[in-house]
Amino acid sequence: MKYDFDEIIDRRNTNAQNVEGWRPYIFKCGPDKKFPFADDEFIRMWVADMEFAVAPEIRQAIKDRVDRKILGYTGIFGAEYYNAFRRWCLERYAWEFPQEELAFSPGVIPALYQLVEDIVKPAGGKVLTLSPSYGHFLHACTYNNVELVCSPLRLTEAGFEIDFADLAAKAKDPAVKMLIFCNPHNPTGRMWSQQELEKVAAIVRENELWVVSDEIHCDLLRCGNRHIPLAKVMADYPFIATCMSASKTFNLAGLCFSNVIIRDADERRRFRKRLKAGGDVNPLSLAAHQAAYEQGGDWLEELKIYLDDNLKLVRNFLDVNIPSAGFHIPEATYFAWIDLRKTLPDAGDLPLYFANKAGVLLEGGNSLFVDNAEGFVRLNLAMPRVLIAEALNRIGGAI
Ligand SMILES: Cc1ncc(COP(=O)(O)O)c(C=O)c1O
Repeated sequence: MKYDFDEIIDRRNTNAQNVEGWRPYIFKCGPDKKFPFADDEFIRMWVADMEFAVAPEIRQAIKDRVDRKILGYTGIFGAEYYNAFRRWCLERYAWEFPQEELAFSPGVIPALYQLVEDIVKPAGGKVLTLSPSYGHFLHACTYNNVELVCSPLRLTEAGFEIDFADLAAKAKDPAVKMLIFCNPHNPTGRMWSQQELEKVAAIVRENELWVVSDEIHCDLLRCGNRHIPLAKVMADYPFIATCMSASKTFNLAGLCFSNVIIRDADERRRFRKRLKAGGDVNPLSLAAHQAAYEQGGDWLEELKIYLDDNLKLVRNFLDVNIPSAGFHIPEATYFAWIDLRKTLPDAGDLPLYFANKAGVLLEGGNSLFVDNAEGFVRLNLAMPRVLIAEALNRIGGAI
């Protein structure tokens, strides 16, 4: 391996949300709340960023940009960034889009808030999504006083599946104006197949819904898998926005930058006009994202091999030590979404249980995800393997 994913990096005193912001996010509490473990003793498997060093090529690009000495107001004026991202999309997803469709946002979350505000709120409409769902799909609706309707995924022997009859029935409600679709899906890690995407597309078309396809996890796939953008399946459908970013793939979330590819010209204009960032982008974020798309491929291929092995470690550990836990190695993401309904039917709040009994910070349940998540925990496995082994031992011990 050219890159070192085993390195343990000290993140203390960097204002990392992962290290210093877990109390309010997971437990809705302040520093007074006491746990049986000191803060330094916790193994942190919660928020979706990685314990791995940013690729040296990207760090160098940021340094090079700093060495240009001035960091004034910045926009994206030429085609250089577009060309880098376009090549990435062509090589990895055999998909491309015209430059004019590319808009930007200081993150996928702000883009979701804005798209719901632009499209659903004025119509007094509702948003539809699959559950369990990422918390911010609900927050984007709550912020806009819009109702979120959930279509629960079904858990079968083969893994999570879309209940198409339920999705179609809920999409028929004339108040439903938008589907927020997570492709691949957080937290289950499902990577939707061509056939599944076509069925979703048919429901969207039939009901003339807007669809926001959140594809932020689309490069974090098990080796050998290939991402299919929903916009590729719906090549002629105007009402689609695709959110992608190198932030999740390359551990750049703190740089607050994302691509929002909006096909409909009216919404594109409105989105750009109403964007609270006013069209400015952070020059260091731009340099980092461009370097990621131009030079990050080798690092990503090695990362995927490392993550595959981390997931196998979890699989083997659960098979031997906690056979009552339900788990499928996901097709995408660095998450393990584990069903503990049989293992710990009476544990109550699972994040609190594992913080108290194992010194492991993780997410799970309906307080951190939306609907259909009770009894499940999500482990973030984007960390050195020795830490995962230790966390699993502690989890096993607690159970
Ligand atoms: C599905 C999904 N969308 C969006 C985000 C966050 O996006 P951003 O950091 O670009 O706002 C996450 C982060 O975990 C996510 O899982």
